[in-house]
Amino acid sequence: MPKPSDIAHADLDELVKGIKLEDAIALTSGVGFWNTHAVSSANIPAIKVSDGPNGIRGSRYFMGTPAKVIPCATALGSTWDTELIGSAAAKLLAEEAKLRGASIILGPTVNIQRSPLGGRSFESFSEDPYLSGQIASAYIANVQSHGIGTCIKHFVGNDMENDRFAYDAIISPRALREIYLMPFMIAERNAQPWAYMAAYNRVNGLHMSENPLLKEIIRDEWKSDAMIMSDWFGTYGLSESINAGLDLEMPGVGKWRTQDQMGRCLRSKKIMARTVRERARKVLELVQKCARAAPEIIDGDGQERTNDSQEDVALMRRLAAQAIVLLKNDGGILPLKADHLKKVAIIGPNAKARVLTGGGSASLKASYFVSPYEGIVKALPKDVEISYNEGSQAFLTMPTLDGEIITEDGKSGWIGSWYDHVDRNFSLAPKPLKVDLISETKLIILGSQPPELGERWSLILRGFLRPRDTDTIFEFGLTVAGRAKLFVDGELVIDNWTKQRPGDAFFRTGTLEERGTFHRKAGVKHEIVLELCNVKPAAGGGEDEIPPSGAAVQLGGADVLDADKAIEESVEMARSADVAIVVVGLNADWETSGYDRTTLALPGRTDELVAKILAANPKTVVITQAGSAVEMPWVDFAPAILHTWYLGNATGDAIADVLFGKVNPSAKLSLTFPKRLQDTPSYGHFASENGKVRYAEDLYVGYKHYENVNIAPLFAFGHGLSYTSFEYSNLKITTPKASSVAEGFEVVVKLVVKNTGAVTGSEAVQVYVTLPPSSFGHLHVPKQLRGFHKVRDIEPGESKEASVILDKYAVSYWEEGTARWRAERGKYIVSVGASSANIRLVGEFEIGREFEWRGL
Ligand code: BGC
Repeated sequence: MPKPSDIAHADLDELVKGIKLEDAIALTSGVGFWNTHAVSSANIPAIKVSDGPNGIRGSRYFMGTPAKVIPCATALGSTWDTELIGSAAAKLLAEEAKLRGASIILGPTVNIQRSPLGGRSFESFSEDPYLSGQIASAYIANVQSHGIGTCIKHFVGNDMENDRFAYDAIISPRALREIYLMPFMIAERNAQPWAYMAAYNRVNGLHMSENPLLKEIIRDEWKSDAMIMSDWFGTYGLSESINAGLDLEMPGVGKWRTQDQMGRCLRSKKIMARTVRERARKVLELVQKCARAAPEIIDGDGQERTNDSQEDVALMRRLAAQAIVLLKNDGGILPLKADHLKKVAIIGPNAKARVLTGGGSASLKASYFVSPYEGIVKALPKDVEISYNEGSQAFLTMPTLDGEIITEDGKSGWIGSWYDHVDRNFSLAPKPLKVDLISETKLIILGSQPPELGERWSLILRGFLRPRDTDTIFEFGLTVAGRAKLFVDGELVIDNWTKQRPGDAFFRTGTLEERGTFHRKAGVKHEIVLELCNVKPAAGGGEDEIPPSGAAVQLGGADVLDADKAIEESVEMARSADVAIVVVGLNADWETSGYDRTTLALPGRTDELVAKILAANPKTVVITQAGSAVEMPWVDFAPAILHTWYLGNATGDAIADVLFGKVNPSAKLSLTFPKRLQDTPSYGHFASENGKVRYAEDLYVGYKHYENVNIAPLFAFGHGLSYTSFEYSNLKITTPKASSVAEGFEVVVKLVVKNTGAVTGSEAVQVYVTLPPSSFGHLHVPKQLRGFHKVRDIEPGESKEASVILDKYAVSYWEEGTARWRAERGKYIVSVGASSANIRLVGEFEIGREFEWRGL
C-alpha cells in the first residue's frame, strides 16, 4: 500500500508531467482555510499550514486546540539571543506544529515598525532590519531542522494595517533594499525559508501578489527555491498573480483559481499551461520537502493534540523572562526582596487580565496562563498581606468572559445548539443539528461550523454567569459578523441584529461593539442566551449577505466601574503598602490585524492612575505590557519600570522571576520608545492618503531617525538595564580580509566585557557601523547595527570576550544607479554600545578599494 509520504521519493518532473492539467490547476490553490490540495490518483497528499508566528493555532480559531503561546516577536527580538530563539523554535514551535499536524508554520513575520502605531507591530521582531534578520534566521533554521517548514511573511511592505488590502507603499529602491527587504534577505542567506507569503498591499504601484518583485528578487536574485503563497484573500486577479510567480492562492475559499476561470484564462492565452504546471510544481516541491522532513505528519491521523511537558513549561518561562526589559531602576529598588515585604499592593487593569499576545491571526487559545497577579502572589511568602485593585479600565471592547460562563451543571463554558434556517425569515428548524459544549466567548467560526449545516444557520448559546457574592451593575459588549442578540434571564439586553454599525472586528467584517447593562445580583445564577446567525444585513440595504470569511461573535463583560472611586481606592492601597506594583498596558484589542493604533497613550485613565500611585508611594514598580512602544508621561517619577511586551502563557511567572531577582534581566529594546508620537520617524505620513503611503522617512527608520535629527527618545533602541553593571574594554578590530572583494570580506571585532557588579548577568553587546562619506555623493544614516553578541552568564568580577564578524553586508549600501550593493573605500567607524545611544568604545577599519556585488 503506498503511503502519502511516498511523495518523498517521487520524481517531480515525471509527476508534474504526468498529472492532468485540472490537477495542476487545483494544486495552485488551497483547500479550505489551511490545506493544500491532494491528488489521490497521483498519491499527492495535502499539507496543512498554521499560524504562526508566536505559537501554532491548528486549524480552528473556534473550539481550537489549546496551545503554547510564546512571547510576541518584539519580545523575542529583545532577547538578542539567537541561541535561545533557536531552542524555542525547535522545542516550542516545531514540536508544537507536529502536535497540530501542521507541516508549515505561517511565520516568522519580518515587516518593519515604521511607527509603533502599526496594529501588528508586535508580530515583527524589530525596527532594525539586521536584528530582525538574525532573529528570523535562528527561528527559521531551527524550525526547519526539526522537520517543519516556515513561511516568512509578509513580502513586502505590510508595515501598517489600515487599508492593508489596498494601500500602495511608495518606497525608494534604496530604502526598499536596505530596510524592508533586508530581514528577508538575511533570512534567505542564513536559513532559506521553505515558503514566502506575499503581502496584501501594493508596493510602488502593484499589489504584491502580482508584483514582479516576487520573481526578480526571490527567484532571480536570491535564487530561492521557496514556494510563494498569497496572504489570506490577498489575490485580486488571476492571470496577474499566476504570471508574476505566485504559486499558491490561499485560502482555498478565495476562488480566483477555479477550473472555470483558469480554463478561460488558458483559452484566452492570458496564462499558459506551462506556467500553471510550474506553479503546481513549486507546491509539489514544498509537499515533498515536508514529506521528507516529517513523514509522520503526512501519514498521521490529522488529529490536533496538546502536550505541555515540564521541560516545555520551564522553557516557556525562561524565554519569557529573558524578554523582559528593565527600563529604569533608580536607586536599585529592584529586585524586590520578597522576604522583607509585609504589605504589597498590586494595582492596574492588566494585573489580572488575560493578556497573552496581540490579536488577529497571531492569536491562539492558550493551554495555560499565569496572570501577572497570580505570578506575583505565588512568588511572595504566604504571610505577606496582598491587596488588589483594578484601578482603571483599559479595554477597547469588553474583556473576555472565558471562564465566567458555566453550564447548568456547573461545567465551564456554554451549550451551543446549531440550527438550519428553514426560510429567509430566520425561522429555525425544529431541532438542532448538533449540540456542543463551547468554552470560548469569542467565536471566530471561519468555516468550522458543522459541515452538515445549510447555507443559512444559527447558533444558540446558553449558559449562566458564575454567581458572585456582590451586587453590581454589569455591562456586556457584543460584536458580530452576522447578526446576534443577547438575552439575560429572558430579557433582551443587546440587539446587534436589526440595526448594525460596521466596525473593525473580525478582520473588518464585523460590527462595532454594542453594549447593554443589567443588575447582577449577589448569589444569583443569571441565565445568558446568545443567538447568532451567519447572515448579516447588506451594507447597502439590499439582499442579506454571508460575511466572506464566515460568522463570528464576541461577548465580553465587566462590572461598571466608578472610575474616580477606583483610582482613589488604589491610591490609598498604594500609600499603605511597602511596595506598589502597577501593571498597565494594552491588549489584543488595541494591537491586532486590520487596523492601527491612533495614539501612543495608554488607554482610558491609565496614565492618571500611574501618576497618582507614584505620587502616593515612591516605592512603586511600573510594569507595562504592550507589543510595541507606549508613551510614559510619568516616567520621571517612576523609579522602576519593566516593559514586558506580550509574554504568552508564562507571563506572570516570568514577571515574578525578574521582579524578585530569580532572573537578572538582560533584554534590550528591539525598537525605540519615543517620548511622543510627533517624534516618530513616519509622523505625518504613516497613514494611507488616498491609497498611497509615502515612506518619506526613507532610510531614517527607528533609531536612525532619532539620532539624525537629534531627538532624545524616551528609551533608545537597544536600551535595557541589568541588576549588575558591565565595563567594556580592549576593543580590537582586524584589518579587513579580502578587502577588495565581496566574497570573503571579513572584519573581526572583539572586546572584553567585565561584570563589575555583584550578581551574575548577561549583556547584549551591540556593534554599529558608520559608512565613510561617499565619493559619489550618497547620503548615509549616522550609524547602523551590523552585529551583536549576547555574552551570557558573566559572574561578578569575571571578564568574557564578545566578538562579532562584519561581512560584506556590514559595509555595503544599495546604489540605485547601478542597482548593485557597493562598499566604498574609506574609513569605517565601529561603535560598540550597550544601546544605540550608549556607545562605550569606538574604533575603525579601512577599505582600500571599493567593491560591488549582487545576489546574497
Ligand atoms: C494574515 C497572515 C496570516 C493569514 C492566515 C492573514 O490575515 O495577514 O499573517 O498568516 O491571515 O491566518
